[in-house]
Amino acid sequence: MNFDEYPRLKIGLFPTPLQPLENLSNYLGGPKIWIKRDDLCGIAFGGNKIRKLEYILYDVIKAGYNTIVTAGGPQSNHTLLTAGSARKVGLDYRIIALSQKPELITGNLVTHQIYRSKIVFREIEPSKSWGETALSVYKEIKKELEKENKKPVYIPVGGSIPVGALGYCRCVYEIKEQSQNYGFVPSFFVLTSGSMGTITGIILGKKLFKMNFNITGISVFGKDEYLTLGVNRIEENVVKAGKLLDFDIECSEKDYTIFYDYTGPGYGSVTPECVEAIKITARTEGIILGPVYSGKAMAGLIDLIKKGYFNKKDNVVFLHSGGSSEIFAKYGEMVPYLD
Ligand SMILES: Cc1ncc(COP(=O)(O)O)c(C=O)c1O
Repeated sequence: MNFDEYPRLKIGLFPTPLQPLENLSNYLGGPKIWIKRDDLCGIAFGGNKIRKLEYILYDVIKAGYNTIVTAGGPQSNHTLLTAGSARKVGLDYRIIALSQKPELITGNLVTHQIYRSKIVFREIEPSKSWGETALSVYKEIKKELEKENKKPVYIPVGGSIPVGALGYCRCVYEIKEQSQNYGFVPSFFVLTSGSMGTITGIILGKKLFKMNFNITGISVFGKDEYLTLGVNRIEENVVKAGKLLDFDIECSEKDYTIFYDYTGPGYGSVTPECVEAIKITARTEGIILGPVYSGKAMAGLIDLIKKGYFNKKDNVVFLHSGGSSEIFAKYGEMVPYLD
């Protein structure tokens, strides 16, 4: 199937801008850095989940479901953007927050309250992964919803399923056009990697639209921690997403690089390097990154520049995948590194 004909809902504002970061590039004395502003895509405070949800929710509605259930941490951007998208397209929804109920409502939970999200808080069971815990809670919620004559469906953590990856294929298409208009050829694509759905779409888009950039993911999970997530492997999902478009491709670990060195003690931990990267980006370009995802990717990018990973002539596209609102929930942990 032709990529443009693949059905999706129009939820966000696309294409998002591709913007040169001249001040930051000069400050770092490094390659030319461009930023793809997926934080500006129109729902809540923006972010990468909207592109995925445009495809996922189309399928959900077409299959006749009317209530979506998804899961994440209590400050999850994914659950927040799922809530915002559900509100936009008129679907009912429930959120599973994998933690104890916090005493104080902060950050994304404030926005959930404004959306009037119905949230079930549940701690991750020690013998189970995030994904397994979420699924077992979903089974309970499903029974209740069915008693109310609803038709529920579960969207896995991060929305990282093959059809969702098509959203980031579209992002590559936008970047191809935008970089041509600017008159440059991207040589690297740097992004944050969590449940790996975004990188899956970028790999597929690169193959589909015949781009030549190196794909560099900065993981927000340590390598061992990542394995407890219970998500599918990138290579399998690239192939599966390609099949949706009748595009037969191969994918191997050679198609991308992921660095697990910038996570700090674990997912969600605030590292001094990440706060430094957030300050540098804010103070040179006025752009706010988040301490859980995009700030860590910027910390990785800055360190890789220092280590000579890029050539000064490279054009590096950095994905702002959203999550700027994380600064409000994480302020206490950021304070020691702020000045
Ligand atoms: C702001 C932000 N950036 C990046 C990611 C990572 O994307 P993915 O889970 O597709 O790897 C997430 C996932 O929740 C996110 O919220």
